[in-house]
Amino acid sequence: MFAQVNSIGLFGMSTYPVSVEVSVDRGLPRCDIVGLPDMAVSESRERVRAAIKNSGFFFPASRVTINLSPADKRKEGSMYDLPISVALLLATGQLRQNPGNCALIGELSLNGEVRRVAGILPMVIHAKEQGMDAVFVPMENAAESCVVDGIDIYPVPDCKTLVDHLSGYRPLQKASREMFPMAQRQIGPALDFSDVKGQFMPKRALEIAAAGGHNVLMVGPPGSGKSMLAKRLPSILPDMTEEESMETTKIYSIAGLLSNEQSLITRRPFRAPHHTISAVGLSGGGRVPKPGELSLAHNGVLFLDELPEFPRISMEAMRQPIEDGVITITRVSGSLTYPCETMLVCAMNPCPCGYYGHPTRKCTCRGDAVSKYLSRVSGPLLDRIDLHVEVAPVDFEKLSDNSMSESSETIRARVNAAREIQRRRFAGTATSCNAKMTPAQTRAFCALDDASKALLERSFVVLGLSARAYDKILRIARTIADLDGSEHIQSAHMAEAVQYRALDQKLWHG
Ligand SMILES: Nc1ncnc2c1ncn2[C@@H]1O[C@H](COP(=O)(O)OP(=O)(O)OP(=O)(O)O)[C@@H](O)[C@H]1O
Ligand SMILES: [Mg+2]
Ligand SMILES: [Zn+2]
Repeated sequence: MFAQVNSIGLFGMSTYPVSVEVSVDRGLPRCDIVGLPDMAVSESRERVRAAIKNSGFFFPASRVTINLSPADKRKEGSMYDLPISVALLLATGQLRQNPGNCALIGELSLNGEVRRVAGILPMVIHAKEQGMDAVFVPMENAAESCVVDGIDIYPVPDCKTLVDHLSGYRPLQKASREMFPMAQRQIGPALDFSDVKGQFMPKRALEIAAAGGHNVLMVGPPGSGKSMLAKRLPSILPDMTEEESMETTKIYSIAGLLSNEQSLITRRPFRAPHHTISAVGLSGGGRVPKPGELSLAHNGVLFLDELPEFPRISMEAMRQPIEDGVITITRVSGSLTYPCETMLVCAMNPCPCGYYGHPTRKCTCRGDAVSKYLSRVSGPLLDRIDLHVEVAPVDFEKLSDNSMSESSETIRARVNAAREIQRRRFAGTATSCNAKMTPAQTRAFCALDDASKALLERSFVVLGLSARAYDKILRIARTIADLDGSEHIQSAHMAEAVQYRALDQKLWHG
């Protein structure tokens, strides 16, 4: 006897249809799974056997062949337990109604319960695009599946309940978005910029960075508030578009980080991995590949605190993905990519003791300790950072000043307005914000009048800027002009932009 049901495969971000076929033939009892199964699929055989028995059905004492096709695609993960069981029950006549034009996805526990799997969201999107009628998913993935409109979602608690549903004995309840009102709420950032006293320039730098999507580096002595500032960045990031929200949610789905309490990412992510993180943790990969921190920060922020402490190899590995907005992971079974359009925010001390260039305290670092420390930061990574800003310690008067600083909400309104200008500017192109402008776009959108040109020229001489600073300054000036609602870059914008390169010059090229 033979039976076939549909499931869906996932490789990186891409999905493909998987046909699960079971043939039960006369012969000595054995069970084979073919179609390039990885270890998880082979383990699936044992789980399916136990789950079927423990759900009150029998596992045939004859020759069972399970085929997952297409055979040339490597199947990863355990989500085929459920379709295999259903096909087996069909092939042995224990179930008569084929689910038909529906996909089945789910891991089984030994007692037949359906367990959550990673990557449900892209798979449900796939099912919808293939014109399927419904998808049967694990209960714990229900909220995440409901993010997709226009396809029926049946959360399945266990194998037996699904059989009762298919045989028309006791129908399962369809899930809908409304059943998970909490799961799609916006969780607002708790920290606000109004807590930060003084620090006009670093705050302004973060505002520009958020407005134009620029990478930013903060340098300052211990306790000057670098970490404090960075943690407040999420509160001024621009609203996510629906498309961005969906893309980021897909990555969280694949990483297995969604739940029925939080199924849709509607706020830009802020990821702050510790410097001891592994290369795989940062970039992604592993036996069953998972996105890394770089991709979890997609459409959001990756914060690298204490930048020089990150291994050089990690920094070098980040350079290309940061530049390209995608990360490629090469595996025996082919290479896969995850998106990582992320804004990089880094913080560091200027030297090992932390007080190099401090207004009142003396740096105690000896010899070439300072330059050695600075050289730990990968040059090519530094090159990808448009904005450099010094975070000087705030003096006591400012700290004890009780007048309120500007709130995050006010800043965020300006950021959103500047993003709207960029959205119109780059409509129909692949560019998302000023920081991502191509050289041609930089030339087209950053035309300078004579006054700004003269100012820029003077700055190059006075600050000793290098040629590669040129485009960075233009991009920053463009964002400053956008924050000002100005169509043209004016000399005031240029004057401000130039300041964010001065530190780079002082520390690395001085
Ligand atoms: N501008 C400020 N306004 C209010 N509080 C501040 C300010 N700067 C620093 N603080 C206080 O000092 C604490 C230390 O700041 P933070 O940890 O951000 O410093 P840091 O620059 O990251 O230092 P380190 O280099 O040691 O990591 C903050 O948690 C905050 O309580
Ligand atoms: Mg800190
Ligand atoms: Zn020092």
